[in-house]
Amino acid sequence: MTQLRVAILGATGAVGCELLHLVEQRDFPVSSIRLLASPRSIGKAMRFRGESLPVLAVSEHLFDSVDVAFFSAGAETARTWSSVAQAAGAFVIDNSSAFRMDPKVPLIVPEINWHRARPDVRYYPVGNCTGILLAMTLAPLRRFGSIRRVVVSTYQSASGAGARAMRELEEQARAFARGEETKAEVLPYPILFNLFSHNSPVNEHGYNEEEWKVIHEVRKVLEQDDLPIEVTCVRVPVQRAHSLSVNVEFDSPAPSVGAVREAVAAFPGLELVDDRDANRFPMPMLAAGRDEVLVGKIRQDLSNKNAISYFACGDQLRKGAALNAIQIAEKLVESGYLVHRS
Ligand code: A2P
Repeated sequence: MTQLRVAILGATGAVGCELLHLVEQRDFPVSSIRLLASPRSIGKAMRFRGESLPVLAVSEHLFDSVDVAFFSAGAETARTWSSVAQAAGAFVIDNSSAFRMDPKVPLIVPEINWHRARPDVRYYPVGNCTGILLAMTLAPLRRFGSIRRVVVSTYQSASGAGARAMRELEEQARAFARGEETKAEVLPYPILFNLFSHNSPVNEHGYNEEEWKVIHEVRKVLEQDDLPIEVTCVRVPVQRAHSLSVNVEFDSPAPSVGAVREAVAAFPGLELVDDRDANRFPMPMLAAGRDEVLVGKIRQDLSNKNAISYFACGDQLRKGAALNAIQIAEKLVESGYLVHRS
């Protein structure tokens, strides 16, 4: 198998660390790996396959001889470096929102729309974490008829705001245990014992940027440009898995709970967690560190004969980000598009 020269831009961040971990855990075919971040990280080192690797400040020549570059350093950084990396010959798989909605760029969740990949495309964005999780749960439902409307409320973990927000939640818990006041520096409000509307800018329609991304990106992944989606995104004091409460209305009477359970259980990347007797359904603690998106509390909506409701949880850093990125790379290798350049 081809052995690839890999770079991770944003290696020190929450998604970057997960990427490095997954490259090792999934035995991604790597001959060398270059860890890149901002100049703030000069002097840091990270472990890979038992070795300590230095983190380098990103610069132009560091993309030379790279076959695939994973980016997880935000949209601004992606706008600066994606063309540089591609000009150096690398495939770029970017976790940022920089080019996701560009009509020329496919937005791929491999279990759903791999057919959108093309041999001439060298830039693949990874969708918004919440959007990926929602799309994963909607994809198997399409067999039951046309989806008329989706209504979603989210419960989003600190990990979605990056490694510093995860540390802030921990620090607030420690400060609370010491009887000290909790300080909010990364997120706009204290997150411990609290929750608040997603911390992204609110547009003229009253939707924040996260909600807007979910609506438009899920439509793009499902290839249903006019799908009505109503979403409320909320940040909650959870470390690293997002949850979603979802109501799906079909054009025709809703499928039975049994049929939905079967469809969920059969769909790759989903796991059914739906035990009414034990009152055990998806929860962030079950999803954290897992590849699968958990789906349960599936029921017919008694207020609407055409609708079902369910609850889902998925690790934002895995399927919501790093795992989806690695899966795209693995598929590119499998398809023969991504190879070691001599
Ligand atoms: P650094 O640690 O040097 O600041 P997170 O999403 O967890 O906050 O992580 C963001 C990642 O993106 C970090 O690895 C961070 O590096 C990196 N990053 C942020 N801004 C830049 C930049 N301008 N150039 C390169 N890397 C950046």
